[in-house]
Amino acid sequence: MKQESYQFSFEVYDSIKELNEADAWLLLKAHDATGLSYAPYSNFFVGAVAKLINGEIVAGANQENASYPVGICAERVLLSVISSLYPDVPVETIAISYRSETIASDHPVAPCGICRQSLQEYESRMQHPVRLILGGVEGKIHVMPNAAMLLPLSFSNQDLK
Ligand code: THU
Repeated sequence: MKQESYQFSFEVYDSIKELNEADAWLLLKAHDATGLSYAPYSNFFVGAVAKLINGEIVAGANQENASYPVGICAERVLLSVISSLYPDVPVETIAISYRSETIASDHPVAPCGICRQSLQEYESRMQHPVRLILGGVEGKIHVMPNAAMLLPLSFSNQDLK
């Protein structure tokens, strides 16, 4: 038997004021994108905005359904839009933010497990890392160099070869 370990590192900023101008702008766009959310059941409004490597900006937000499992997270809405509108243009960075009527938006929230799987597939398909900026309306901000590191020991296309 041998023990293995998995480590990753990411940047933690105390507030949006510490980010560079481009990252702060993208995070504010993600705040704005919460306005595109349809979340009458959870009242948890998530916005995700991507900057593509050609400079295009694309927004997405979570879309819920009375049949709860039918709802789609902001990240997967966004990836579907990007893949449809710009199938050959990799994403450079995605900023994700949220607000809620019942809880404070004062810390970063990370993509859920299904979204991590989708982000990993997208990175692999485009052969390009997706940088992530995660932050609420206030509080700390996490910046990660790629999405796949959020999903260690994952199932991937390599397993189907
Ligand atoms: N949600 C997202 O949009 N992204 C995530 O990564 C986590 C959760 C949405 C799904 C649902 O509409 C609401 O947040 C509450 O779970």
